[in-house]
Amino acid sequence: MSEVVRFEVEGGIGTIRMDRPPMNALNFEVQDGLAAAANEATVRKDVSAVIVYGGEKVFAAGADIKEMQTMSYTDMVDRSAALQAAFTAIARIPKPTVAAVTGYALGGGCELALACDFRVAGENATFGQPEVLLGVIPGAGGTQRLSRLIGPARAKDIIFTGRFVPAEEALRIGLVDEVVAPEEVYAAARRRVERYVGGPAYAIRAAKEAIDRGLEVDLDTGLEIERMQFAGVFATRDRDIGMASFVELGPGKAQFEGR
Ligand code: CAA
Repeated sequence: MSEVVRFEVEGGIGTIRMDRPPMNALNFEVQDGLAAAANEATVRKDVSAVIVYGGEKVFAAGADIKEMQTMSYTDMVDRSAALQAAFTAIARIPKPTVAAVTGYALGGGCELALACDFRVAGENATFGQPEVLLGVIPGAGGTQRLSRLIGPARAKDIIFTGRFVPAEEALRIGLVDEVVAPEEVYAAARRRVERYVGGPAYAIRAAKEAIDRGLEVDLDTGLEIERMQFAGVFATRDRDIGMASFVELGPGKAQFEGR
């Protein structure tokens, strides 16, 4: 495991912890570490949910500008697929994910938060896609995931201007789901996903895949994805447990096995 991205598991929750002071700039090593951690989070049976965290001071101030400064067009053609793949690996973790955002989440940092299912931010958090101020555009999903989450006009305002978006505004426009005191961010993110430990893991997985894949296609195709996922979960042990428990004991008492 990389030194700049650790994967720590406690109580069924995996934490992908970026650790590259001072700003967690997302250089190639961090990008590759994120991809490796996402793969580990995906395959480990003892992980029910995932937190992406950059520590108490900063989430991430974006791709490493000093590393990119001398890159040519062809260098970036070669590298950009790995950059996007790392963030897509986070987005495709088939378990609930939450970004715990303290301080700056800019450029690739904002895009990393967007690749999670939920975002919990400190009152001092600052979001933004300032790439145009460097003469480039977001390249790790920002033009796509931000506009899908908050709508094209708001995304265009944020991306065209490169302006900073404070936590309070981010909450109002749906860019974050919860704002808490800065020192509470990691605990609040944990609280948000703790409920999934011991849950019906394959039903949650199927729901996530149906929502995320469905958002990428037309309604009829999305409904077909949902229909297949819906029928598919009838093959799980948790479906047997969930329905038998309801019939015998009433709602909400099932003890799921995650299989
Ligand atoms: N890449 C490389 N180094 C960075 C960095 C980045 N994205 N962000 C900050 N740093 C470095 C600074 O150069 C500085 O290094 P030195 O101490 O060696 O000078 C150190 O981190 C501390 O930064 P500042 O002195 O600037 O601290 P500040 O508190 O005054 O400002 C900041 C903090 C607002 C985050 C400011 O540093 C900043 O605007 N950073 C760049 C943000 C940005 O443009 N991000 C987008 C990157 S492009 C991208 O992400 C493309 C993509 O889509 C994947």
